[in-house]
Amino acid sequence: MAEIEILLPAIEAADSVLETDAGRFRIAGQHIPEKRVMADPAVLRDLVKSARAAARNAHVPYSHFHVGAAVIMADDPSGAVITGANIENASYGATICGERNALHAAAAKGFRRIKFLALSTADSLDGPLPDRSPCGICRQVMREFIDREEAQDAALILVDTGDAEFTADILDIDRLLPYGFRL
Ligand code: THU
Repeated sequence: MAEIEILLPAIEAADSVLETDAGRFRIAGQHIPEKRVMADPAVLRDLVKSARAAARNAHVPYSHFHVGAAVIMADDPSGAVITGANIENASYGATICGERNALHAAAAKGFRRIKFLALSTADSLDGPLPDRSPCGICRQVMREFIDREEAQDAALILVDTGDAEFTADILDIDRLLPYGFRL
């Protein structure tokens, strides 16, 4: 099928300065450039379906909240879909999210750059985006595997809507994690 151009519009808000008796503070703005990515929408739809299918393997005896993720890595010449699901533990802190399980599986195969990542919070579909979007730790792990060179960073993150009207919400890491940490 044919690729189309996907445009994520710029988000621009200037920094501002707050003068106080206790010193000057800077209110951080947002400077997210527009992004244009070529993608075949059928590939994106199939990736969302893979993420939703992967959620069936979630081990969730505590939360009963199934999450699946599916990723295609830009540096994987095979273009394979690598999936993961959330795996909980009786020691709650040992739980790992679906997105990180998929991404770490991809990284363990030697791949380092996300092309497209889809996730499906299969038990909260049809809700507003915060009910369906990735947690902060997973956003930071996504950041790790997306190139910061603007020309290289064509990674898209797709959030399953579960909707008859929309297949997915399309975001990128800048829009999900502004000011994400770097070392
Ligand atoms: N969870 C994910 O797998 N991904 C997220 O981005 C948010 C939360 C999992 C962790 C836990 O197993 C369950 O959802 C409830 O928090």
